[in-house]
Amino acid sequence: MALSIVILAAGQGTRMRSDLPKVLHPLAGRTLLEHVIAATGGLGADAVHIVYGHGGALVPERLAGLAVTWVEQRERLGTGHAVAQALPGIPDAHTVLVLYGDVPLIETQTLVRLVAAAGGRGLALLTVELPDPTGYGRIVRDGTGAVRRIVEEKDAGPAERGLREVNTGILAAPAGALRRWLAALDCDNAQGEYYLTDVVAMAVGEGVPVATVAPGAVEEVQGVNDRIQLAERERDHRRREARRLLRAGVTLADPDRIDVRGPVRAGRDVILDVGVILEGEVELGDRVRVGPYTLLRNVHVGADTEILSHSRIEDAVIGARCRIGPFARVRPGTELAAEVHIGNFVELKNAQVDAGSKINHLSYVGDTSVGKRVNIGAGTITCNYDGANKHRTVIEDDVFVGSDTQFVAPVRVGAGATIGAGSTITRDAPAGELTLSRAPQQTRPGWKRPVKKPRD
Ligand code: UD1
Ligand code: CA
Repeated sequence: MALSIVILAAGQGTRMRSDLPKVLHPLAGRTLLEHVIAATGGLGADAVHIVYGHGGALVPERLAGLAVTWVEQRERLGTGHAVAQALPGIPDAHTVLVLYGDVPLIETQTLVRLVAAAGGRGLALLTVELPDPTGYGRIVRDGTGAVRRIVEEKDAGPAERGLREVNTGILAAPAGALRRWLAALDCDNAQGEYYLTDVVAMAVGEGVPVATVAPGAVEEVQGVNDRIQLAERERDHRRREARRLLRAGVTLADPDRIDVRGPVRAGRDVILDVGVILEGEVELGDRVRVGPYTLLRNVHVGADTEILSHSRIEDAVIGARCRIGPFARVRPGTELAAEVHIGNFVELKNAQVDAGSKINHLSYVGDTSVGKRVNIGAGTITCNYDGANKHRTVIEDDVFVGSDTQFVAPVRVGAGATIGAGSTITRDAPAGELTLSRAPQQTRPGWKRPVKKPRD
């Protein structure tokens, strides 16, 4: 069955009190609209049309890279009018799935069921029973339970307002029929708008079957109209991702205190402490442990590695059985082989550290390759930047670097070399030898400290 998706995103979002169009607001690291588009990913749709509003040109501008068709709705004349703007680009034989750019948590599985319920010929509505249906269109059924029509709250009488089954707005319908129905809409209602919801009574009148489907969870159909709702959806998303991890076998110290902002793959018996933030693509090997208040962004972590609290690791590959942190900063381009130890207040940038090496305290190591079994003492700094260009430091296998050493790159330290503490290394240090640069220690016998002059 050929499928076209129409996402309505022409709302101004006045209640956000923002200069940013509503659908560009971020939720878990992606815009609201991108969440909706992502949910359509598994549907095999032939096209995605996004209807954006007058003054909303920033939306196609910001998301220019997406493989979608942008349609401007110049005047905001109602949901029926909005869908009609996209229809000229959709063949009659397609099923049209209507979604909303400000309803971000819709799940693919729900949409699969909805499209299946439409069956290519019929109309399928996503509906939900709410304890408080205020503000929503109500689903009106007849004595046999068949759907008759949708009535908007503002047009509803008291009995209809008592109905608790509401229209989520999300529906699937055959494009040919939808084109006919939308052309016949009028705006003779309380809001003077062209209501998409009026197509339901038209379908019923033509004997087109109307089915309803319920979402897996209410949060899937809840929108974002203000920043309170944005925060609520963020919380819903957080809980949903936490449940996914728990189901996949991850231990969470507190499912309410973890943020997942991208796809995560986790092995067996992974443990994540409170305040962990996982962004972008994160892969955690078996038995990885992540301590409190740690951020991992686009990181691959090997099995049995432990990352201690308050660390920040971005665009990096961490090997197996490593120990990182607490308070470690690992910046893009860093690759750690197995059994590497990175300790507190150590910053790594574009550093490749081979197996068994240790950088345990207060160091900056950037644009550097470090061999196997190297020990880098506290306070070591690679001076990789001369104010104009970056240069590399190469430290070969089995080197021992004494504390408080500076390497003025470009510089190479040969295998097995020892660098004396407090050295400033400006030239290559030969393999196997002790190299140091240090002013000789002096003692001035009999020297006296100055004393304060007595006041007169
Ligand atoms: C609509 C439904 C209502 C449903 C509710 C669910 C209609 C007539 N009513 O009401 O039955 O219970 O959604 O939230 O469809 N939009 C445009 N262009 C327009 C008008 C709207 O893009 O001209 C977009 C808005 O940005 C928004 C969505 O469509 O994302 C819904 O529009 P809104 O006016 O908020 O509809 P509701 O009154 O909430
Ligand atoms: Ca609304």
